[in-house]
Amino acid sequence: MKKYKIDGSEAIYEELKEYLPGGVGSSFHKPKYRDYPVAISYGKGSRLYDVDGNEYIDYIAGFGPMLLGYGPENVNKAVQEQLKSGSHFSAPTMKMLELSKLLTEVIPSAEMVCFQNSGTEVVMQALRLARAYTGKYKIIKFEGQYHGWADEEKVTTTASTVEELGDREHPNKILATKGMKPNSADWLILAPWNDLDYLERIMKEQSDEIAALITEPIMCDSGPILPKEGFLEGLRELTDKYGIVLIFDEVITGFRVSLGGAQGYYGVTPDISTFAKAVTAGYPFGVVAGKKEIMSCGVPSSGTFNANPIGVAAALATIRELQTPGTYEHLQEIGNALAAGFQKLAIRHKIKIYTRAIGGIFVLYFGFDEDVDDFRDWLTKADTEFYEEFVKRCEEYGVRFTDDRGREYISTAHTMEDVDKTLQVADIVLSEMLGD
Ligand SMILES: Cc1ncc(COP(=O)(O)O)c(C=O)c1O
Repeated sequence: MKKYKIDGSEAIYEELKEYLPGGVGSSFHKPKYRDYPVAISYGKGSRLYDVDGNEYIDYIAGFGPMLLGYGPENVNKAVQEQLKSGSHFSAPTMKMLELSKLLTEVIPSAEMVCFQNSGTEVVMQALRLARAYTGKYKIIKFEGQYHGWADEEKVTTTASTVEELGDREHPNKILATKGMKPNSADWLILAPWNDLDYLERIMKEQSDEIAALITEPIMCDSGPILPKEGFLEGLRELTDKYGIVLIFDEVITGFRVSLGGAQGYYGVTPDISTFAKAVTAGYPFGVVAGKKEIMSCGVPSSGTFNANPIGVAAALATIRELQTPGTYEHLQEIGNALAAGFQKLAIRHKIKIYTRAIGGIFVLYFGFDEDVDDFRDWLTKADTEFYEEFVKRCEEYGVRFTDDRGREYISTAHTMEDVDKTLQVADIVLSEMLGD
């Protein structure tokens, strides 16, 4: 197996950085281990091809949307078909109606839906709806959870040590970037994930001020960390008891964990939920879904491109494709095979590897092998240096994993051959790193 050369990617970056701050389109494109990312020429199925002609088995999936692999035929066909009659009208269409009906059928919490164009926007809309509906303003958010890049959504996500997070009872509100308003987090209450007693204490004291509790049902942006048994059910009970709107941010888990998202998988129905990424298999779109009385409480869903025909056509085709029998079984089978393979490697190389497979999400990390409770627990146990070096070296051999939090995305295009190759590369890289 040969290591790659990426001179072409470097040359593109050298020019791009004259025009784009940081030389990238999104700050997340830049890997942790190098100044520049590989520049992509095209993608097909489970594979990406870069401008230097290298081929990669890819588990980044464009940060989640590519649940049907790169170049999903049926979705692209639906978009091409739509283009014949127009890309944008800012007006209702028959397909908009069709999609709205379909979403209310497949998403358990969806009595009504509204559309936006990104995950950041749908979360902003969900928070505004909860505040309008309750007439209250505080929001409970969990440490380490990322809900987008708007001021209020990007708090504590960048902590890399427990010390930075501060005292557990009085956590620091860390603003992720310069330029965020100093009062960005004033209306946020931060809490550790998976601790119902902690939450009940907060709710008892402040429920007359708390509009909503927002959470990813699986904490995908840190870890990922799974909900302990009964945690999501407990959130449902507590928010009902204290008159707080329960929001599930399913921007990652939506359509990926099951057709009905994590709410369908765990059988816990929130009041509002947010979707983006995989709902259109690679086109910009976002969906807020929720109870009729909340969704219609008088908050306009504005936006020039809301419900744009391209996104609508892509979402319809994506959901229909996902409804094909066997889809989620295939994703689970690939995830299980990766998990089993990595556990064999853990024994062979005498190290701890954490793996979990849930639908189209495969969790891979080093330094521990049992479930962790929350972001603090994860920061204490996770061997981030080892993970980053592992990811860097795998890329050199043609396998792309996410470079930070161990959240790998499986698509319906991944095959058992991909799994075998991935495990071969992982074995070589672990041998190199551990010298065994
Ligand atoms: C859970 C979650 N919510 C919201 C967002 C924001 O989505 P977008 O990047 O589409 O704005 C993300 C993005 O990664 C996310 O992971």
